[in-house]
Amino acid sequence: MTASLEQLRRCHFAVDLGAARTRVYVKGAGLVVDQPSVAAINTRTGALIAVGEFAEKMTGRTPDYIRVVRPVSGGTVVDIEMAQRMLRQLLGDKVRRTLRRKPRLRAAACTPHDADPLAQRATVETLVGLGSRRVELVDTLIAAAVGCGLPVEQPEATMVMVCGAAATQLAVLSLGSIVTAERVPVGGEAVDHAIVQHLRHQHELMLPSQAVRPLQLALSGNGLTAQGPTSTEIHGRDVATGLARSVRVDTAAVRNAIQTPLTAVLDGIGKVLRVCPPDLVADLADRGIMMVGGSALLPGLDQMLRQATGMPVHIAERPDICAVQGLGYMLEGMIQPMVLDPLAG
Ligand SMILES: Nc1ncnc2c1ncn2[C@@H]1O[C@H](COP(=O)(O)OP(=O)(O)OP(=O)(O)O)[C@@H](O)[C@H]1O
Ligand SMILES: [Mg+2]
Repeated sequence: MTASLEQLRRCHFAVDLGAARTRVYVKGAGLVVDQPSVAAINTRTGALIAVGEFAEKMTGRTPDYIRVVRPVSGGTVVDIEMAQRMLRQLLGDKVRRTLRRKPRLRAAACTPHDADPLAQRATVETLVGLGSRRVELVDTLIAAAVGCGLPVEQPEATMVMVCGAAATQLAVLSLGSIVTAERVPVGGEAVDHAIVQHLRHQHELMLPSQAVRPLQLALSGNGLTAQGPTSTEIHGRDVATGLARSVRVDTAAVRNAIQTPLTAVLDGIGKVLRVCPPDLVADLADRGIMMVGGSALLPGLDQMLRQATGMPVHIAERPDICAVQGLGYMLEGMIQPMVLDPLAG
């Protein structure tokens, strides 16, 4: 699926349409958009009211006639028209004018590792609607590995783990290509969901979506595995009475609730390593795993993986933007092509 470096160098802009955030890199200008993949529409007139951060703030707070939608779900564009409208608005007039001036506009986009042809088509259609004549697709795993500066073109194994909102993707790369890879449909959203469900079942409390992150931070003290503060106060709505209420939540119990979705991620790591040739696994024992993606910032996740796998685990410098940054490096021609163009095919 991955396009060749030569084709990518001829692209004018690159897009990472994620389940949680949309990021756009424009050649020569850098990262110009990094906003939530959210749009708010007026259901009476069909007009777009807001996109990005502002639309996300409206979630759960809108009157009947305003609907907040996410055109990207599970890493796939599910509403092409809405995704186009959202992207147009996010890009703004200035960037759009610059792009329109290109005679044959070319775009690059990253798609999840095992995206089916329909999902790939949806991404292509979205960008064609924005005026692109050609769209090059790159595997997110390769884009992210390049973006965090892993030496992917060397004959040594590197392991990258893209912790997104909808999924966690893992790959062992060597000589610029994926040797083995796995996509686990568990990401930041599943972790948030596990916390919300835990509070609902154990404390009969409905948690507002904005309260999940502070609770994660409360866990961070000494990571997901060790003992941090023993309890923390959380405000929410009582499930039965509907009234506002606060409870003291035992952080160890929340940690346990999070372990369940993370077990699937650990299984994924095991699966990738089992089918990986032994020479490469030996390299990995030294180099370890590089974590990228927004959920890599989940407090204590790196420590938990270190304990579970016994391998070194690193978090990229700016894990959230690695994939689009990698596309950017490819567009700017900052990747050294090898004798054979390794990123092709
Ligand atoms: N500081 C943080 N602590 C914990 N989780 C975080 C933090 N920052 C972001 N996240 C989580 O990271 C996820 C977003 O990551 P990212 O931006 O990589 O997703 P995405 O690229 O839109 O998703 P995908 O690649 O799955 O389509 C969200 O689920 C968010 O909850
Ligand atoms: Mg992503």
